[in-house]
Amino acid sequence: IPVDPFDLVIFGATGDLARRKILPSLYRRRQAGQMPEGARVIGAARSKMTRTAYQKSIREALEEFVPEAERTAATVKAFVDCIDYVAVDVTGDGGWQELCGKLRPDVVRAFYLSVAPSLFGTIAEKLAESGLATPDSRIVVEKPLGHDLASAQELNAKLTRHFDEQQIYRIDHYLGKETVQNLMALRFANALFEPLWNAQHIDHVQITVAESIGVEGRGGYYDKSGAMRDMVQNHIMQLLCLTAMEPPARFEPDSVRDEKLKVIRALDPIHVDDTVRGQYRGNGSAGYLEHVENPDSKTESYVALKVQISNWRWAGTPFYLRTGKKLRSRLSEIAVIFKEVPHSIFPEVSNRKGNALIIRLQPDEGITLRMTIKDPGPGGMRLREVPLDMTFADALGDEFDIPDAYERLVMDVIRGNQTLFMRGDEVEAAWAWTDALLAEWQDSPDRPQSYDPGGSGPDDALALLHRDGRRWRDIPG
Ligand code: BG6
Repeated sequence: IPVDPFDLVIFGATGDLARRKILPSLYRRRQAGQMPEGARVIGAARSKMTRTAYQKSIREALEEFVPEAERTAATVKAFVDCIDYVAVDVTGDGGWQELCGKLRPDVVRAFYLSVAPSLFGTIAEKLAESGLATPDSRIVVEKPLGHDLASAQELNAKLTRHFDEQQIYRIDHYLGKETVQNLMALRFANALFEPLWNAQHIDHVQITVAESIGVEGRGGYYDKSGAMRDMVQNHIMQLLCLTAMEPPARFEPDSVRDEKLKVIRALDPIHVDDTVRGQYRGNGSAGYLEHVENPDSKTESYVALKVQISNWRWAGTPFYLRTGKKLRSRLSEIAVIFKEVPHSIFPEVSNRKGNALIIRLQPDEGITLRMTIKDPGPGGMRLREVPLDMTFADALGDEFDIPDAYERLVMDVIRGNQTLFMRGDEVEAAWAWTDALLAEWQDSPDRPQSYDPGGSGPDDALALLHRDGRRWRDIPG
């Protein structure tokens, strides 16, 4: 279904995110027939450039970032024709009036701030001063949304000075992932799981976001952030919320976000003893310290946490979270491990792992339910575990086409649907919880434990579960 005609202004239009993600995503939506005739994308950046030169650079970006099979000359031309460009000095006066002259009064208006977060406040103010921000216009920002609670509050204050909360779209690209949305479908569109979805039946939950890449090229940013700020405060927090939240009354932005916020507010403060920090070593090639060019760095490229949610649903069921760079493979999954049967009538139970529901977010998106069956054969009543496996690729066949997260999110901005965007209070609550741990780490004399690249993280992370009589799921090679 096509969305309404729109003017989308992308600040930072010559930057990496715009070229690599935002414009290719818009192109794909155009190809899918979702971008209406009256859609226009206006690039805004500091460089003086003609419209034709910018269009050429976008053509090149599409060649680089959209596979050839998805490109047709006609769609590329039609898409590039709807692109315009204005040189804007976001900290000065240049370009704002010209931009004003390009925007139409009668279409959806959105400003995507694909720029350094230090410019979010300035641009919001300029948009208001120059009369570009109308009561219906939308502003889109993306992480890092602050570095701690104080800076997140400051940022929210700057944005809300000129825009209502209903106009602010804070992207967490994990919420745009098809399989993350599927988590809500799985929980709230199937009667099967919800009655079991609580501490009475669930032993624990493991959320893993493992990456095989290191921090090469992004060392400057990453070394000031670390895995906790870069991944846990935002992406993993969102996965935790969607897994743990109460069913919202409606699938509407504030119903969903209210429930997520309650989860964050119910998190127990986390202490150093329930955390493990790691840093990948070199093993022949450059390790973390070389990648960030900071031999004394104590920043973590891996973190594992044991988290408790203090509410009726989850009291006593820990959530173990882990994420890291340079691990064995790229794998994101949520594993819900159920409790054992209350009484076993079968003698051979020593190796039983019990039921588990594994939601694979990427790659190989799908769902596996681990079941116990009888081991075939006449040798008595022996049991074994088997997977009841579903990959979306198999289940959906030709219809299986996972769009990039940005395709969904940018279209939701135009539709005016904030369900998959973070509200200001959510971001602040997540920082408040994160800050307390960061302060404890800061005061701790310990360094992150080093781990081998290509493995499953530091040894202490194994111990974090072993001491509870549990173990992490394997990260396959
Ligand atoms: C980003 C982080 O937000 O998410 C990166 O800054 C990380 O460090 C990336 O690599 C992971 O995203 P995805 O979609 O590849 O899982």
